Amino acid sequence: MANDATIRDILCRRVWDSRGRPTVEAELVLADGARGRAIAPAGASRGKREAIELRDHDAAFGGQGVSKALAAIRDEIRPALLGLRADDQAIIDARVIELDGTPQKARLGGNALIAVSMAAAHAAATSAGLPLWRYLAQGKPVQLPMPMVQLFGGGAHAGNRIDLQDFLVIPLGAHSFDEAMAMVAEVYRAGGALMSELGLLAGVADEGGWWPAFSSNEEALDRAVQAIERAKFRPGVDVGIAIDVAASQFYDNGRYRLATDREELSTEALVDRLAEWCGRYPIVSIEDPVAEDDDEGMRLITARVGDRVQIIGDDYLVTSAARVNAAAATGACNAALIKPNQVGTLTETRAAFDAARAVNWKTVISARSGESEDVTIVHLAVGWQADQLKVGSFARSERMAKWNEGIRIEEALGAQTQFAGRRAVGGLRKL
Ligand code: PGA
Ligand code: ZN
Repeated sequence: MANDATIRDILCRRVWDSRGRPTVEAELVLADGARGRAIAPAGASRGKREAIELRDHDAAFGGQGVSKALAAIRDEIRPALLGLRADDQAIIDARVIELDGTPQKARLGGNALIAVSMAAAHAAATSAGLPLWRYLAQGKPVQLPMPMVQLFGGGAHAGNRIDLQDFLVIPLGAHSFDEAMAMVAEVYRAGGALMSELGLLAGVADEGGWWPAFSSNEEALDRAVQAIERAKFRPGVDVGIAIDVAASQFYDNGRYRLATDREELSTEALVDRLAEWCGRYPIVSIEDPVAEDDDEGMRLITARVGDRVQIIGDDYLVTSAARVNAAAATGACNAALIKPNQVGTLTETRAAFDAARAVNWKTVISARSGESEDVTIVHLAVGWQADQLKVGSFARSERMAKWNEGIRIEEALGAQTQFAGRRAVGGLRKL
């Protein structure tokens, strides 16, 4: 039967993520034979308000097993969804949210829910005979996002070798996604060559960025500028620097402990430090500049540099439409990181995305530090016309699978291609 998107079966299996840990893959089978599958990613520096991953917490795999999450799909989610239509995403997601019945998806697991939710979108797109990005666009214009790419890893992704989590580059001068990738490749290569010459080359961190064998957080910024220059780009003009401070990771009891710099800072002092770095380095974007509960710090930094620097909430917003609206009301950020597994369903992910759009914020669709070959987020970014895409560094195939998918989509769009370009980065023009 052609184009019958009725869900006939839901399969699930244990697969493995980029850290070699178990994760959940879900696969939907529709009445017309169409199938769609998706793999749940996993964070390491998670916000405390995120959807909770259901893990086995037994002796196997360091407690990271997913047999409970798979059982949740088989025994509860599957029977609840059979007979619904895969293209009724809102109905599917509402049904599983209700079935779970907890505020943070703790019972069935955010990992089980997001794998099923994304698999439904894939199956529906296949049934409709469309690539996922085009299916998601629903006839509206699409756009290739501006990439934000990690150069050096840090924080929880690099054994806390340095405090800040991500030092990234944004190829501001690129005119296409393809050109953006080529620019990033040169900067990444230059960064590796520089580390090698300095005797600091020691492999890569969780997301593929160069291992941060630096003596201070500032040295990472200096080296990032040098890598951009070595690749023959103008820092801040052709290629800007972004940082993900992930400050919750080194916050304790009102103080920020920068272990690498042997310093302990108050909120005000950390905001001063970040503002000073914005003056001295070509920083165009800062993510989670202060801890997830430091509302005052978020307001302070946004008031201070938000007219020229993009301030992104990640752990601070946890892809929650309600938290986006609250933050907009107090001026706590000017851009939202959007991670589907942070909230657990595509419908809620879209709601957070739309909330950010409605208050004129920039949107950054993001991967997690634990990833796989799954490329769903690239399709979300294109189909929803997101401003930026953050999937980690420019190495390791769980990252490259996503960048390469962007290249294929750009090619498929041909003459209709729209690339987000530098205007997609907040703060560079008055918001
Ligand atoms: P996580 O980190 O996936 O480990 O939470 C990514 C980020 O903070 O952006
Ligand atoms: Zn982050």
